[in-house]
Amino acid sequence: MSPAGTSTVTPAARLRGELRLPGDKSVSHRALILAALANGKSRISGAGDGADIRSTAGIMRALGVTVERVAEGEGRVDYLVTSPGADGLREPDDILDCGNSGTSLRLAAGMLAGLPMTCLLTGDDSLRRRPVARIIEPLRRMGAVLHARRHDSLPPLTVVGTTPLQAVDYSTPVPSAQVKSAILLAGLRAEGQTTIREHVATRDHTERMLRARGVPIRREDQDDGQVAWTVQGGVEVRAIDQRVPGDISAAAFWLVAGAIHRDAELTLRDVGVNPTRRAVVDILRTMGAHIEELPAAASAALRVDDGIGEPMADLIVRSSELHGVDLGPTEVAAAIDEIPILCLAATRARGTTVIRGAGELRHKESDRLEGIAAGLRAVGARIDVEGDDLRIEGGDDLRGAVTDSLDDHRLAMTFAVAGLIATDEVTIERSGSAAVSYPTFFHDLQGVRA
Ligand code: S3P
Repeated sequence: MSPAGTSTVTPAARLRGELRLPGDKSVSHRALILAALANGKSRISGAGDGADIRSTAGIMRALGVTVERVAEGEGRVDYLVTSPGADGLREPDDILDCGNSGTSLRLAAGMLAGLPMTCLLTGDDSLRRRPVARIIEPLRRMGAVLHARRHDSLPPLTVVGTTPLQAVDYSTPVPSAQVKSAILLAGLRAEGQTTIREHVATRDHTERMLRARGVPIRREDQDDGQVAWTVQGGVEVRAIDQRVPGDISAAAFWLVAGAIHRDAELTLRDVGVNPTRRAVVDILRTMGAHIEELPAAASAALRVDDGIGEPMADLIVRSSELHGVDLGPTEVAAAIDEIPILCLAATRARGTTVIRGAGELRHKESDRLEGIAAGLRAVGARIDVEGDDLRIEGGDDLRGAVTDSLDDHRLAMTFAVAGLIATDEVTIERSGSAAVSYPTFFHDLQGVRA
């Protein structure tokens, strides 16, 4: 990668190798936040070391928490977090910079809503274009005072915390684990029980981690298909040691690379396969991908899903003949971060792939619907955006081209994988964005070229 952040990926003759992914981004954010709310020392092993997680670590430090990097390497870091607990946190003396990270901003807002302090959360150009009304509304109902730019729709976001908050019973209008988690975190500082209901079950890392840290939290599957989570307020969050699994959203790039390349076999070690995150594996298998799943070599303890820890597995992917698939809003919500790389898989699959109800992709680090369509069209794919739906006609060879990541890490990595299987080299502009979630991505890409 050049300093300007442009990378060129040439076609690979073969793909072989064994990879360890960065620590799961979603789990790492939550581990830092809950460690900050717990009185004492929490060790977090194998956290992701991308820019987003560093943003959350920076916010916790600004609140008076000691966050030490005790080991690091290969895109992962071990943190030792020493906190005075929620009641000992101090008001930051400057704005809180969330960088590119929507999860940092939205989860921190939920955490801060119940603390007696005033905080201002902001971020980079991309983050300041992303919606915050979805968290302002429920957190206001709980009694916190929040304001944001453009009639309370865009960051910077001011949070004036209130102690204690009022418990609420809230149904989320958009499927969003960030919104759910913000409310659960605020619920810790509320009097009574806070319930959050979602139409589509989103990732449950916060819920698992709350259980692991001794907070009572209950799941109820309603007759109408909604899932309700209820958390007890006013309970102490315990300090614990925890291990972060490999990021399945990062693994997804290699699962697709391996499946669509003619001569590939890739082994991905210790990948998080939480049932609320593993949709990408199941969708690829439906498309015909050969993905083997073995108990993770790393930890016998995590082979069985106990609803508290994060289950892990080793995944082995081999060259496959894919066919098109029809994905609806439920699958989109379950594989929200993997849709860009699944679109690339669809370009190499026999037949048509239709992805319906993907409007949330417009509110990510870029407008991913338009960004993925533009990049894949540049490499010769037939892809149309119709409203919030995508339609991809697969089976054509992809050609070399210049693509633009729009400074979006998941688009940068998707177009880089396209370069491995295209007939000629693919250039990715602003490819440095990969470091937001996967700082060693281009290094790993060199490594698997055999
Ligand atoms: C995340 C939830 C998702 C996802 C994001 C991480 C999380 O966002 O896209 O990358 O860690 O909770 P939404 O909650 O906005 O869907």
